Amino acid sequence: DWNAEHIIDELIDGVRTQVGDGRVLLAISGGVDSSTLGLLLAKAVGERLTAVFIDHGLLRLGEREQVEAALRPLGVNLITVDARAEFMAALDGVSDPEQKRKIIGREFIRAFEREARTHGPFDFLAQGTLYPDVIESAGGEGAANIKSHHNVGGLPDDLAFKLVEPFRTLFKDEVREIARLLGLPDAVRMRHPFPGPALAIRCLGAISEEKLDILRRVDDIFISGLREFGLYDGCSQALAILTPIQSVGVMGDERTYSFTAALRAVTTDDFMTAEWARLPYDFLATMSNRIVNQVHEINRVVYDITGKPPATIEWE
Ligand code: XMP
Repeated sequence: DWNAEHIIDELIDGVRTQVGDGRVLLAISGGVDSSTLGLLLAKAVGERLTAVFIDHGLLRLGEREQVEAALRPLGVNLITVDARAEFMAALDGVSDPEQKRKIIGREFIRAFEREARTHGPFDFLAQGTLYPDVIESAGGEGAANIKSHHNVGGLPDDLAFKLVEPFRTLFKDEVREIARLLGLPDAVRMRHPFPGPALAIRCLGAISEEKLDILRRVDDIFISGLREFGLYDGCSQALAILTPIQSVGVMGDERTYSFTAALRAVTTDDFMTAEWARLPYDFLATMSNRIVNQVHEINRVVYDITGKPPATIEWE
């Protein structure tokens, strides 16, 4: 019988034993694993934890504020870093999906190392590695899993931390239960996975501030709508995509020539295969109306009805 309160005490004891009076650095991705780890470590070592959240300018609407509001009141010593300008500069004109991923990974490590030096020295690097990540070393989520996701072979020697990975024996459901007991808000606790490269791989082709801003507003309408209509938890992941397609439309007496947004929602157990979510037509109609009414840069909305395979969940 799995007793979450008992597990929390054990995990805290384990961290204290491992860390002693050392200092711990943690990258917060905004997902449930790294956020929950932040809460656990704050309980275990207090101010000797420094949690770093990098705002690369590819986040969703209000995401940075949501992370800050979820963690700071619960005692997490959280530093948010505004790295938007450097990420935008590095991604300028880059349209190849894998190239975008590589650049984001590289810039992320660069920004993270800089923060480690500024606020260090640190003895430990904490990671929200889960049991499934341990058995199949791919996986984990976003910034929480720096080494496996960014293909850089770890950090340089002068930042050679010892790893703290208290969740190595846990499954996602167990982390969610721990998160609940530690007081993580449900919006974060039950959040869909969100990729490390974030909105950059949902804004097809070369990105720009303007395109990201359009995508952010479309995404917010869709995700808020799913929550409002009680459909969010029934989807494994939902996303909006800004396509580079421009098409002709009509608005009042005016002819428009504007962008097409795509909506995608899937159900899946393991994200290796997925079905497109059979969202109600009326809901899709409401989303489409809201999007074209509120986001003037969009005059056409399509819903992705492709499974994985052959399509991936993300569009890039
Ligand atoms: P695909 O698009 O390959 O996505 O069907 C499967 C799952 O992985 C996520 N994903 C990523 N996560 N870095 C990440 O941290 C990435 O580069 C990346 N690419 C895809 C995707 O959101 C989905 O949950």
